[in-house]
Amino acid sequence: MCPLYFLINSRLAPALLATLNLAFDMLRIFIGLSIAFTYTLMVMGNVVTTTGSGLACPDWPLCYGTVIPPFELQIWFEWSHRLLGGTTGILILSTTIIAWLTVRGLERTLITTALGLLGLGAVFGGVIVLIEAPLLEGALHVGIISFHIVLSTIIFTLMIFAFRVTQKGVEYSSEERTYVYLFAIVFIQVIIGIFVRYGQASLACPDFPLCRGEILPTLIDGKVAIHVIHRAMALLIFTLVTGYMIFAIKAKYNVRNAVITFILVLLQATFGANIVWSGMFLPYIVLHGATGFLTLGWLAYRSAPIITRKQTSFPSYM
Ligand code: HEM
Repeated sequence: MCPLYFLINSRLAPALLATLNLAFDMLRIFIGLSIAFTYTLMVMGNVVTTTGSGLACPDWPLCYGTVIPPFELQIWFEWSHRLLGGTTGILILSTTIIAWLTVRGLERTLITTALGLLGLGAVFGGVIVLIEAPLLEGALHVGIISFHIVLSTIIFTLMIFAFRVTQKGVEYSSEERTYVYLFAIVFIQVIIGIFVRYGQASLACPDFPLCRGEILPTLIDGKVAIHVIHRAMALLIFTLVTGYMIFAIKAKYNVRNAVITFILVLLQATFGANIVWSGMFLPYIVLHGATGFLTLGWLAYRSAPIITRKQTSFPSYM
């Protein structure tokens, strides 16, 4: 007789089921922690680069050849960023192990892909320091530095999808398709924002809402072009989100989610405008990054049941 058949029909079955349920709950806790740590890491990365602390630790993976480097603010920004990165790595690795022991479906693929990307990101983080990428010029520099944070953005999104897939009581049809489109547009906008930042195009348009005193400036160089594209996309997103909120209020349909989305985008645009008006005041830069990633996370959360079609292996254990 098949051992599995024997187990299912034996007195051990309830205990086995309880253990599986416990492991499944643990998986969800680990996915949740991975999301929180990845998000904090992304915001912290912003603080590190904005304060020019990126190369405060000249070596890698240690800092000044030790785990307790000299006490200097920039060094400790960079070092705590790395420690946070290490913890996030361990969390995602543990989540992957639990996923392989617990589930078989899409959530396992999502989590494993996140781990793969994390490995790639860790190697890249080291490469940035070792080849002194910040000293490189042009597109190569922008590409290498941005790749790191683009990877984190994808990992963050994959983990949110995995979280949603493992959530009980969420159905494919329980969400609206609008959030899928908003998620896609905001994802592109976040990537463009990252290019604005690492392409040093943040003040390519030093005024707002005009750019160099014009509605549509001559796109003299790549920096002005990427900055203008970022603003044009922001206008598009703002218009879509406002329109959707008005529709939701009139139709009395899912108003809460539409209002949350509108508030996030409004805050995001306000912080963006303030970065320019203040000439790069640090808190606005950090808040703009933090709200941007939060908005993306929120839209990923809302659209995940539709994008993943809620393919979970969970019911097979119930
Ligand atoms: C839905 C709207 C928007 C989204 C989702 C968004 C998202 C982002 C993201 C994710 C970044 C990169 C942050 C980082 O690397 O930590 C960024 C950078 C930036 N964004 Fe936006 N943004 C939006 C609207 C705006 C608006 C309206 C402005 C106004 C000018 C703006 C100006 C900037 C600037 C100047 C940067 C570079 C900041 C830096 O150097 O750190 N953004 N944006």
